[in-house]
Amino acid sequence: MAVGIFDSGLGGLTVLDAVAKRLPDVPFVYYGDNAHAPYGVRDADDVYELTTAGVQRLFDAGCDLVILACNTASAAALRRMQEAWVPADKRVLGVFVPLIEALTERQWGDNSPPREVAVKHVALFATPATVSSRAFQRELAFRAIGVDVEAQPCGGVVDAIEDGDMILAEALVRSHVEALQRRMPKPEAAILGCTHYPLMEDVFQDALGEGVAVYSQANLVAESLADYLTRHPDKLGDGTEAAFLTTGDPARVSNKAIQFLRRKIEFVKA
Ligand code: DGL
Repeated sequence: MAVGIFDSGLGGLTVLDAVAKRLPDVPFVYYGDNAHAPYGVRDADDVYELTTAGVQRLFDAGCDLVILACNTASAAALRRMQEAWVPADKRVLGVFVPLIEALTERQWGDNSPPREVAVKHVALFATPATVSSRAFQRELAFRAIGVDVEAQPCGGVVDAIEDGDMILAEALVRSHVEALQRRMPKPEAAILGCTHYPLMEDVFQDALGEGVAVYSQANLVAESLADYLTRHPDKLGDGTEAAFLTTGDPARVSNKAIQFLRRKIEFVKA
């Protein structure tokens, strides 16, 4: 049994960390497409091609279920993959739905019609590709009515984090929050819609102020996955080994991964 975790690079390790803690007996195979990161500035066709190639590699590694930990891939490629590419005996799930279910106070898998929810003004911080896909607004509209979403494309933040330049990352986060607040002065909730942003969660919270509920994905995805596997134990797949695969340079990627996991892991060539 093994479950695949796909990401454009290292950000998905924030999700990997949470799911591995929640499901310690499940071997996870992580795939980071570091050779082609960041995805956030690519067009949808490009993201689709890269994502399907990576997910196929995870199927080949014995995973029947793959989580797209990358918001950009979830936003730009997932629907197209589910409609026309994923084989009938496999599943590919994204990271938006668990977040939206939490925001709209729904139980997992509650597919009842959209209804009014407590929160009315939501700020979304994500990569330019995720924002321009409008996938978050589309998924939200299936579940809630009357929610105003203001999205801020956070150019530069992923690159700064990947470069380890946390001073620049903090300055960029503060300026993106300010830009958003000019359009939506008082959001009630803020969604961190990118796997890299949990590393900047304190800065987002500080810039937004105490009264704003900040939703970060990793733990929500872990709970959702645990629930899914209880309902679909057959989707554990036949792989038995945990692994960290990268399309980039394994030594370099392994070193950078310490920043995300605070422990050493060994990536191998995908
Ligand atoms: N992992 C991507 C996401 O969650 C961000 C990094 C990228 O742009 O590739 O959106």
